[in-house]
This record gives sequence, C-alpha cells and structure tokens, in this order.
Amino acid sequence: MRRKLVIGNWKMNGNRAANSALLSGIAAGLTSTGADCAVCAPAPYLAQCQAELAGTSIGWGAQDLSAHAGGAYTGEVAAGMLVDFGCRYVLVGHSERRAYHHESSALVAQKTVAALAAGLTPVLCIGETLEEREAGRTAAVVGEQLGAVLAAIAVADLARLVLAYEPVWAIGTGRTATPQMAQDVHQLLRAQLAGVDPVAAAGVQILYGGSMKPDNAKELMAQADIDGGLIGGAALKAADFLAIISAAA
Ligand code: PGA
Repeated sequence: MRRKLVIGNWKMNGNRAANSALLSGIAAGLTSTGADCAVCAPAPYLAQCQAELAGTSIGWGAQDLSAHAGGAYTGEVAAGMLVDFGCRYVLVGHSERRAYHHESSALVAQKTVAALAAGLTPVLCIGETLEEREAGRTAAVVGEQLGAVLAAIAVADLARLVLAYEPVWAIGTGRTATPQMAQDVHQLLRAQLAGVDPVAAAGVQILYGGSMKPDNAKELMAQADIDGGLIGGAALKAADFLAIISAAA
C-alpha cells in the first residue's frame, strides 16, 4: 500500500509574515498522521521553513533547482544548497518552468539527476496542454516527458522518484480533470515505470495536481493510482490545505 503524499506548491507567493501564519496554521491543525505532507516554498524562504518546521511532521522543499552542482551559473540554486536548508523535496519540470523558462525534457532529466545525486526526492511534474489533449496526444506527451527522465536515471533510482501528473489546462483554472481522466493517465505512467522496474513502479507515488481543492480531493485520491496531490492555490490557506491532507488520510 502506497502512502499518500500532499505537497503544497506556493509558487511565487508569500512573505515572512504570511508564511509564518500559514506554517503555524498548518502545524497547529495537523492532527492526522495518515498522510505525509510538505510545502515547496520560494528559495529565499527555505531557511524560514527549516526554522519553523523543524520538529514537526511537515516536510519542505524547493520549486526548482539547477542542473549543475555549482559554479558560474548566476542566479541558479544548486541541489546541495537545498540540502543545506533541510529540503527533502524539489519540484522538477513544473509546467510553468517548461512554458515560461523553456525547460526541455532533456534539461528536466538533468535536473532530476542532480536532485537524486544530492539525496533529494525529485517531484517530477508531467502534463499535457489543452491543445495536446484535444489532438489526442496526451499519452504521447506524458510518455515523452517521463521517458526522457527514465533514460537519464539509474534503474536503482526509480524508487526514489515522485511523479506529479498535472494537466496544464487544469492548473490554476478551477477546471479539474475528472477522477477517471486523471486515473487513466496515472495508470499509463505507472505502466511506463513498470516497463523499467515493475517492483519499484508499484511503490512510486504519483500525485495529481491541477485545481485540487477540499471538495474534489477525496474523490481524486480514491482512484487506484492517485497517491496524493500537488496543490497550488489551495495550499495558500491553512484550512484548505489541511482539509486536503485529511481527505488523503
Ligand atoms: P493549482 O496549481 O492547484 O492552483 O491548480 C497546481 C500546481 O501548479 O502545482
């Protein structure tokens, strides 16, 4: 049985005071231990997460990392620096990175390798655009995105991945994939993982993301291959984030 995992993606939101209120609200309201949870904060606030979450059961992580381990890459943040601030997770290949920063599947694969090498858990984000779905290309697109990473990592590292299926048309739009639509893609992704290592594939957590809210979380996470959520908008309110964690447990 895979454990459920709920990760908040704060995106480029927050400030010291708001983060403090949000983190203490989550910590105070977290009663269930039936699911794991974490927040992915903007890089400048990782020290704050470390200071305020140490000793709680809430994990934290970053939203991106460099493919390089260090050196002359102005503005970039290396995996080792994230480890230095206690990060456990790092999002890799979020659709906003792919779209606005032109991250290719090859670069996403290099970043995944960098995260694994530093001991982080990469949360590999995968998803098709509306145009791609309507053209019947969903399976091909997500297959290519996952395939690029599978070709780059060691088979032994497969079990260390977390996947997040996030249909681009569902992110921040209030338009959620139906549980069946999401399950269909999750099943495809797990089958692709199983092609590499069936035992490891059965244990990999595949999260759904894209307008997951307290009122649709339970039904989505009840699907056989949906092992939790990657939450944007609803992760910015402690009550909503807690409700989703409860729905997962
Ligand atoms: P959303 O964002 O929950 O606001 O749709 C999800 C994400 O982009 O990770």
